[in-house]
Amino acid sequence: MNIEDDPSVEVIRAAIELVTSFEKHKVFDRLRLLMSEEAATKVREQFASEQRWLTPFDWPFLHEASQKLNSILSDNWLYPYGPRKYRDQLNYIKSLWNFVALDGMRALDFGSGHTAPHLMSTFLYINGATTSFSVEPLPIADEADAARMVLHFLLLALQDPKAWTVGRSDPSRLVERAAQFDLSNLSSGRLAGSFDRTGVDYRNGLAEQYDNISDLDLIYSIAVFEHIMKLDEVFSMLIGKLKPGGHMCHVIDFSDHNFHAGLTPLRWAYMTPGGGDGNGINRVRLSRMVEIMRRSGLEILHIDRWKSESSKQIRGNLLPEYENLSDEDLETYTATIIARKM
Ligand SMILES: C[S@@+](CC[C@H](N)C(=O)[O-])C[C@H]1O[C@@H](n2cnc3c(N)ncnc32)[C@H](O)[C@@H]1O
Repeated sequence: MNIEDDPSVEVIRAAIELVTSFEKHKVFDRLRLLMSEEAATKVREQFASEQRWLTPFDWPFLHEASQKLNSILSDNWLYPYGPRKYRDQLNYIKSLWNFVALDGMRALDFGSGHTAPHLMSTFLYINGATTSFSVEPLPIADEADAARMVLHFLLLALQDPKAWTVGRSDPSRLVERAAQFDLSNLSSGRLAGSFDRTGVDYRNGLAEQYDNISDLDLIYSIAVFEHIMKLDEVFSMLIGKLKPGGHMCHVIDFSDHNFHAGLTPLRWAYMTPGGGDGNGINRVRLSRMVEIMRRSGLEILHIDRWKSESSKQIRGNLLPEYENLSDEDLETYTATIIARKM
């Protein structure tokens, strides 16, 4: 989705102006977007009467505004700490549950990110995995936000266990497992100690540093493999950590990452002459990625593709290495590849 098409972006812009502006009336105009009509009328009256607000009790409308902003943020696709983020991620890997049963599994989230690296592992653990590793070299951006995100997810799962149960997992076990997390510690914004009674195991480092992360049944990643330059090396390192017959599932984002950053209007810029370097990606397309995986010793079981017709615009203007791509390969901006170690 284009940033400009998202109505919540306007409200978020307004909120930013709100907290950065010193002009009283401008602040009010911006704040109004986040308030009920009733609260806005009251504040407008206070402005008109030049009445001063002296104590925090005079500002309850700020609470209303912050609640509204929170709910807008949660649903915004750019916000990394909201349910929108993991709902999207889980949607990308939904076919995986047709191939693996999580019961008793040892799984690895390869490159779990620096915002909430425990999140996907938490999801797999409450669905039956025994040990659920998250490995990420970047330090956690904000511990309190990362903890809050896990807490929020667990509370959603406890409220509606069936909605968060996948494959042959059991909703009542999901509830038991969710209760093993230290919810009060998480709600204080602390990660340390919150996972001690669970099988969620987060490591800050590169996957290749941890020899004891081995004998795995499943390795999955989201938006990681487009950033890996030494693909043969990394696939072979990961295959070494997998049991024979173990599964891999990788969600790969083939879009130009300058497009995500709003620096080019073209999702496919890097495939065209003078279109730039893609901003930190290897520019390997799906067909070649599959070829490399096969060559590494993986059997490809299933591929889900997300496609966009807009790729037709560049059909006649491709760099030589992309000229022979099939229409389907060219149109695919994200794919999930499910494979098995032979
Ligand atoms: C674009 S981020 C995706 C993060 C997360 N999966 C998400 O969807 O938000 C890719 C991540 O892969 C991590 N990464 C790259 N090579 C890695 C390696 N060898 N071991 C572990 N993580 C790695 C990077 O540090 C980066 O945070």
